[in-house]
Amino acid sequence: MDDHGTAGVWALHGIRLHTADLDLRVMTEADLPVLAHVMPADLELNPHATRYAGLDEAANRRAVLAQGYWRALGMWSPDDWALPFVARAGGEVVGAQWLEGPDWTSERTVDSSSWLVAEARGRGFGKQMRAAVLALAFGHLGAVAAISSAVVGNGSSLGVSRALGYRDTHRSVLEHSGETLQHVRLEAPAWSASGVAHGVVVDGVAPALPLFGLTEGSR
Ligand SMILES: CC(C)(COP(=O)(O)OP(=O)(O)OC[C@H]1O[C@@H](n2cnc3c(N)ncnc32)[C@H](O)[C@@H]1OP(=O)(O)O)[C@@H](O)C(=O)NCCC(=O)NCCS
Repeated sequence: MDDHGTAGVWALHGIRLHTADLDLRVMTEADLPVLAHVMPADLELNPHATRYAGLDEAANRRAVLAQGYWRALGMWSPDDWALPFVARAGGEVVGAQWLEGPDWTSERTVDSSSWLVAEARGRGFGKQMRAAVLALAFGHLGAVAAISSAVVGNGSSLGVSRALGYRDTHRSVLEHSGETLQHVRLEAPAWSASGVAHGVVVDGVAPALPLFGLTEGSR
């Protein structure tokens, strides 16, 4: 099915985000094989996801990727949603960027996570991907804040947050690994004041607003 056809069934697939170097489209089932192929080995996947004893590690990682995608769109609700994007540079898939709205109706706060293939790191793409979904959240969905978190040693993930104006809030300890997690937060006024939304072009949101519990006039 082409993009237009997919968007006709599920309006989220009509959302497009463009940055200086990247094009972000909402993940479709057709993206899963290439994502499974390029997904980096150092990417830590959801530790609570189902693992299958009869599958090797690589096959289990592909299963976590696929079930994560289906769960996100299959379990979608305006109160608790997770929107996965595929990032392309020059037409090549370079990574994935998630935007999440847990308790969206009451909190209007978004979370995010992302990964890039090794060759695409350290070139500002991580910052562009995050800025793209923040432009969607703050500029089109009426988010009041964005949060994020990463283990304290993950300099590039925390570097993206800090470069975009997030402030440290608190630390916690991951139950499954004992690692320390740094939590960060960015308020909508700080995002607007920073002007970093410039350069991000957001298209195709209006038909999808009802899926976020919004209408054109309600933001
Ligand atoms: C996290 C990730 C998406 C970041 O993307 P990236 O393209 O490498 O990061 P960028 O080049 O956009 O760098 C963003 C900022 O962080 C800074 N930064 C990058 N690496 C850093 C490091 N190790 N320590 C400190 N700062 C760092 C950069 O200088 C830049 O800040 P600036 O714009 O003020 O100069 C990417 O590195 C990745 O895929 N990592 C593996 C998966 C992962 O850990 N995901 C996050 C899970 S929470």
